[in-house]
Amino acid sequence: MKLLYEGKAKYIYDADQEGLLHVTYKDEVTAGNGAKKDKVPGKGRLNNLISAKIFQYLKEHGVKSHFVEQLSETEQLVQAVDIIPLEVVVRNIATGSITKRLGFEKGTTFEQPLVEFFYKNDDLNDPLLTDDHVTLLDIASKEEIDTLKSAALEINQHLSALMAEMDLRLVDFKIEFGRTPDGDFLLADEISPDTCRIWAKDSDQNFDKDVYREDTGSIIDTYEAFLNKLEDIER
Ligand code: TMP
Repeated sequence: MKLLYEGKAKYIYDADQEGLLHVTYKDEVTAGNGAKKDKVPGKGRLNNLISAKIFQYLKEHGVKSHFVEQLSETEQLVQAVDIIPLEVVVRNIATGSITKRLGFEKGTTFEQPLVEFFYKNDDLNDPLLTDDHVTLLDIASKEEIDTLKSAALEINQHLSALMAEMDLRLVDFKIEFGRTPDGDFLLADEISPDTCRIWAKDSDQNFDKDVYREDTGSIIDTYEAFLNKLEDIER
């Protein structure tokens, strides 16, 4: 297969099928825009299995994504889309960058979920964008910004309900969208403990990449525990 793109956590190959791509999840973990980086055997498998299950769950709840099917423990078939250079972040509880940027105390629950856009640009360190920046950079129109925000909030509702079933809290997450050849937006990339913050129901024990960012535990044990909870609610 022809390698089209290598990202921090995935390889993207031409799937030799019209309009489809083959994604292989890597055993790499990075934090702080690659400042911290490690190879963690087994991580690609966990992200692939978790992301496939979450995209499947969203599909069952009416949210379409680029996910077509899981091909193996580390591979997925996805629909080819033009990725929009935005990291769309939804926050239910304050932690991470918003505590540093705006002074919120970690753990503050927001009255309404907050949607933020960050520019997907490693050279600029993925800066926060206002809506006017998004239109100025010609990334999306005002109308499209509203569509992206509504889609992100709807996904937040479904993911929050899923996490609640697992006795967990969805603190925040990052998603990406792509444009299909028809010009529609489609949820893309991955949804996993790499891209979400997930806390236990009654404590701030976390089930996400913060264990790696903050050096507080094993990423494999943490993601394995999350996958087990996800599998438990299917039974
Ligand atoms: P932040 O608090 O660092 O801005 O992160 C918000 C959410 O976005 C958190 O769930 C982690 C996720 N995220 C990514 O998936 N990729 C990134 O590059 C960054 C900065 C955050």
